[in-house]
Amino acid sequence: MAKKVGILCSGGDGPGMNAAIRSVVRCSLAAGMEAVGIMRGYQGIFDEDFISMNHRSVSGIIDRGGTILKTARCKEFTTDEGQKKAVEILRKHGIDVVVVIGGDGSYRGANAIWQKFQYPVIGLPGTIDNDLNGTDQTIGCYTAVHTALEAIDKIRDTAHSMERIFIVEVMGNKSGYIAVEVALGAGAEEVIVPERKFDYERMNQEIREGRQKGKVSWIVVVAEGAGKAADIATAITTMTGFETRYVVLGHVQRGGCPLGQDRILATRVGAAAVDLIAQGIYGKAVGVLQNKINVVDLKDATQKEFDHIDEYMSLVRRLT
Ligand code: F6P
Repeated sequence: MAKKVGILCSGGDGPGMNAAIRSVVRCSLAAGMEAVGIMRGYQGIFDEDFISMNHRSVSGIIDRGGTILKTARCKEFTTDEGQKKAVEILRKHGIDVVVVIGGDGSYRGANAIWQKFQYPVIGLPGTIDNDLNGTDQTIGCYTAVHTALEAIDKIRDTAHSMERIFIVEVMGNKSGYIAVEVALGAGAEEVIVPERKFDYERMNQEIREGRQKGKVSWIVVVAEGAGKAADIATAITTMTGFETRYVVLGHVQRGGCPLGQDRILATRVGAAAVDLIAQGIYGKAVGVLQNKINVVDLKDATQKEFDHIDEYMSLVRRLT
């Protein structure tokens, strides 16, 4: 009997998720399987909110941000009873396997039903945080960095014209990936991330010295998990006496038309997920490592620190 493949997005959305959905749906159909969209992530399982998907269901979405299946963070699915109930519902509806497009927390949930109930799952890396193992990049992270860079280029103009220090807060609660990429790409003077301790006294000293030498503006990029831009701005003004402003880029980074790299990554991993399903291989996370499809156990895919964090941070310092 043809396999029925469920697809859901879970956690924070990211540009490129639609391209992943399209790829999983079309490759499943091409392989003679059925495709079923699960609305609002794991919540859609409890709500039994399933939609049958055909070739046309995913037309014209490759360039659209967000996710046509919607996404959510679902508390019930984090409990043992919730996971057991979800598996019962999926089995009742004849859904043989679920492809989960999401980040760290979503992978944990998927791995839980695989380990505890042997329910077949495959994970696709869908998060702007780029904090998953087994893949160089995650779906959405290229676009999020690009979007933040576009904003900082504009902030630089006003910072320089009005001779101010700007603190720019980017997303990343536990992950400094976006912050270091953006700091390097924007030519920022400082970057503050949750993974490393930051020496505020050193920065304030350098700002004072820089001003004496005629430097007029600074861009300080901070990841949201490392501190609040508003508090950092107030502290800098107090300690240096210089005018400081802050900008929180926030959810702007999660939206918009996905860059080519995100669409291509999403399309490749989506197709690879279907290849695994066709072979009856489950409990895996698919990524692209050194430009090759890479498959790891879901249990090993979570909790990654960006490999190049120290290199990027020291480059930001060297170039200031
Ligand atoms: O995990 C993706 C992410 O965008 C993080 O960078 C951020 O900390 C979080 O989601 C924000 O979540 P929410 O949209 O639920 O506020």
